[in-house]
Amino acid sequence: MNTKKYVYRTVISAVLLLFLTGTGKVITETEKQAVSSANSAGQGNGAGTEQEHGRMLPDDRGEQKEMQADSDGSGEQKGTHADSGGQKGAEAGSGEETREKKKIALTFDDGPDSEYTPMLLDGLAERGVKATFFVIGKQAEEQPEVMKRIVDEGHLIGNHTYNHVDIRHMTQTAAKEEILKANEVIIKYTGEEPCFLRPPFGNGTSRLEKDVEMIQVLWTIDTMDWACKNEAQICSTVYREVKDNSIILMHDEYPTTVRAALRVIDKLQKEGYEFVTVDKIVMD
Ligand code: NI
Repeated sequence: MNTKKYVYRTVISAVLLLFLTGTGKVITETEKQAVSSANSAGQGNGAGTEQEHGRMLPDDRGEQKEMQADSDGSGEQKGTHADSGGQKGAEAGSGEETREKKKIALTFDDGPDSEYTPMLLDGLAERGVKATFFVIGKQAEEQPEVMKRIVDEGHLIGNHTYNHVDIRHMTQTAAKEEILKANEVIIKYTGEEPCFLRPPFGNGTSRLEKDVEMIQVLWTIDTMDWACKNEAQICSTVYREVKDNSIILMHDEYPTTVRAALRVIDKLQKEGYEFVTVDKIVMD
């Protein structure tokens, strides 16, 4: 393991544990919340922050002030101070929101696709957005032009095994070969070893992760785009579940997914979200 990679792993390994599901691919609500609260500690969304500020003005403090006010005869003035304290709290809440943008990562599995990945890349470029592509090694080998575009346009590439296999149900040796073979293909395009692994079906193992010296990244929102193939439905799933540091799972092999992804970007950028590659979320 080289030094850069070692430091990378050490810093974020604790956070990553939260992304791993020990027993299956489905991330439970509790785990989602754990991931979310770990990632958004100290930031919070605007509404939450305002509510917290609201709660920081306890009723009994207000009463105390009023009592003091009565005793020195300037009750109204002090009462006004207490109220303005509440307004300041609310203002501080919205100030924090604008200072720190909420982050979201779009991740695309199972590509690159000869038709829909280029379409997606065009849309991402128009919007100045970087995404993460967990490519299948075999596909990457067959689509050199698309792979070159992904790299040249600054997106992050992760490993999704060579043949899209369920590595949890293979021998350790065979699983490792699948991952390393995909890495070899990716290195030909990027010039460096990929750090991130998304096991197909979300079926990873911590032992394997350690063995191949990679970091497993799952997701916090599953759009089920491959099943519904419905632009509106994909969008509404994201809008319903999105929060700071969300990692969205999509597949860049359907026109509905490409259109939904671009629509999600247009809407959430206006709402103050910054679209980043997964390393930016996992590292923070
Ligand atoms: Ni997949």
